[in-house]
Amino acid sequence: MVKIEVLVGSTRPNRFSDKPAVYLCEELKKEEGVEAELVDLKDWELPFFNEPVSPIAAKGEYKNPLVKKWAEKISEADGFVIVTPEYNHGYPGVLKNALDWIYFPWNQKPVGFVSHGGAGGSRAIEQLRQVAIALQMHPIQSAVSIPQEIVRGVIQNKNPDQPLSETFRPLREGRMDMVGRFFTELLKLAVVLKAGRSEPASKG
Ligand SMILES: Cc1cc2nc3c(=O)[nH]c(=O)nc-3n(C[C@H](O)[C@H](O)[C@H](O)COP(=O)(O)O)c2cc1C
Repeated sequence: MVKIEVLVGSTRPNRFSDKPAVYLCEELKKEEGVEAELVDLKDWELPFFNEPVSPIAAKGEYKNPLVKKWAEKISEADGFVIVTPEYNHGYPGVLKNALDWIYFPWNQKPVGFVSHGGAGGSRAIEQLRQVAIALQMHPIQSAVSIPQEIVRGVIQNKNPDQPLSETFRPLREGRMDMVGRFFTELLKLAVVLKAGRSEPASKG
């Protein structure tokens, strides 16, 4: 069994990010051997990073009790899906802040990125890959960029009663099944890295 946390990368009212995050979390729950949980940054009102020492030096001793809880929540996961919009060719500051607050709970875990934006959001993903490596995470090659037609349909509230499984169905259709490929890569790595984390560190 592996636990995957799906992070919602934007927190503004009327955001789009939470829709694909909820959809992907539900799809992950259908996968065998997977526990999935939505982790919405809106529910985690972390201040701008203001610890006197870096998270590496803090070694899990955080002054702010909310940060301690944040570290515990992230520690529970064996892997992550991060859903991010593109803001000014990057990713939202609220997401960087949530990543920066802690260090060790991210280590040696896979992460897959899902983006959206006027141009698909892939520039936000490319920047996040670099950040993930600094956090000793393992970004996977597959990514999901949500087509603008889907985003527009949701924002314009074209089908308000449509279930999310219908809204996002095109992501799973056709030869590509973007989501299927994405899950396969993420889950394989989550299993392997989970086993690796439980082994004593090699001296070699
Ligand atoms: C501050 C801001 C900057 C944006 N910059 C870009 C951008 O550089 N490229 C792009 O493709 N879309 C850009 N967009 C459009 C957003 O990516 C798009 O509206 C997305 O759905 C916003 O995500 P959210 O609704 O979850 O906040 C920007 C939106 C905002 C609010």
